[in-house]
Amino acid sequence: MITDGKELDAREQALVAVTREAGELAREFFAKPIEIKLKGKQDYITEADGQVERMIISRLKARFPGDAFLGEEGGADGKSDRLWVIDPIDGTANFAHAIPHFCVSIAFMAGSELALGAIAAPMYGELYRARLGRGAFLNDRAMRVTDTDIKQAVVELGWSSRRPVRAYTSLIERVLATGATFLRAGSGALGLAYVAAGRTHGYCELHINSWDTLAGLLMVREAGGWTNDFLGSDGLTRGNAVLACAPGLKDALVAATGVGQANEKLERRIS
Ligand code: IPD
Repeated sequence: MITDGKELDAREQALVAVTREAGELAREFFAKPIEIKLKGKQDYITEADGQVERMIISRLKARFPGDAFLGEEGGADGKSDRLWVIDPIDGTANFAHAIPHFCVSIAFMAGSELALGAIAAPMYGELYRARLGRGAFLNDRAMRVTDTDIKQAVVELGWSSRRPVRAYTSLIERVLATGATFLRAGSGALGLAYVAAGRTHGYCELHINSWDTLAGLLMVREAGGWTNDFLGSDGLTRGNAVLACAPGLKDALVAATGVGQANEKLERRIS
């Protein structure tokens, strides 16, 4: 576990620099024709994903050779209580279809503590960052979640083929029944960053991976929001359901989505 603040300072500086650089590299790939493949149903991979991830890991390894890595494309690399969790391009389907809503998302865990997170959305000129106990920022502006009446709330509902379609359509129905509206923009990491920035009021998905969520979850918490215990039940390696929202919407959204309640209840509601 990191007890020395200087060790975390060094990682925070490196994180912000490499996330920015990775965003620029992703932007260069976005501007030219590249190879695109499907690795599963509606699950894309492009040649940019691997190259951006390799660049991030080589930069961080050069500075912190004893640290471990978990990347969306390369999987686990090394064993340490200092762990970097990397999504080189989140919103890959958007990226593959020339839709600019994508980002690079990187989180750093010190032992079991989610300590740092950064997200670059290069087509928007946005860099989001958060450090445990020290707030969350969009470029140089401190972020705060926006509380609102549930009837005026905008909640993003992420979708992937990892859960049955009927679980997703039922989730939409239950969230709409609260009076909130929903959207699906195709990047879980940016969806969470938007909650932190106060642009939307909540983000929910019935299964999502840790590389898509950890940086954004820290941002939501540091911006005054509430999140479920994503890392419980092996969320780091197996993924989990996620719910993040402004605190005043917690009760209504936990009740509507089932996320944040006991796991067995969730299983019952989504099956
Ligand atoms: C996906 C996106 C999407 C979310 C999926 C993720 P990827 O990640 O974050 O918004 O709904 O669960 O798998 O494949 O674009 O890195």
